Amino acid sequence: MIRIEFDDSLRTGDQTVDSQHEKLIGMFNELHAASTEGRGAEVVGPLLEKLHDYTIEHFAAEQKLMTGSRFPASDMLTHVEEHVQLTQKVRDLIVDYHNGGFATILPLATLLQEWLTKHIRQRDRQLVEHLEAARATG
Ligand SMILES: [Fe+2]
Repeated sequence: MIRIEFDDSLRTGDQTVDSQHEKLIGMFNELHAASTEGRGAEVVGPLLEKLHDYTIEHFAAEQKLMTGSRFPASDMLTHVEEHVQLTQKVRDLIVDYHNGGFATILPLATLLQEWLTKHIRQRDRQLVEHLEAARATG
């Protein structure tokens, strides 16, 4: 895992989406800090639960933006499929942590960071471009 700076490369231009992404990235940074500081299950357990719940909350908010703006069905399908996979991996992270601790989850946590930032740069940018175009044409 690395610490991720929430910089312009991760901004989509939509304030609501960006602030939710910043919060999500912040949780990954907390996980990274807990790892480097050697924190135990009393810290990491609740942190993973928080990450799981907020992932679901954030993806639901994005999916509401899609259905509320006539986002093309094929794009929505691809986007939501990635949300499902990401959510499933966060669940795997919790199970793996309970089974083996930090050493076990570091590769998956790193992979999730990469998936999430890639998803933001591709899928979420595409969604925000659509939202902006939809707003412009009313
Ligand atoms: Fe998304």
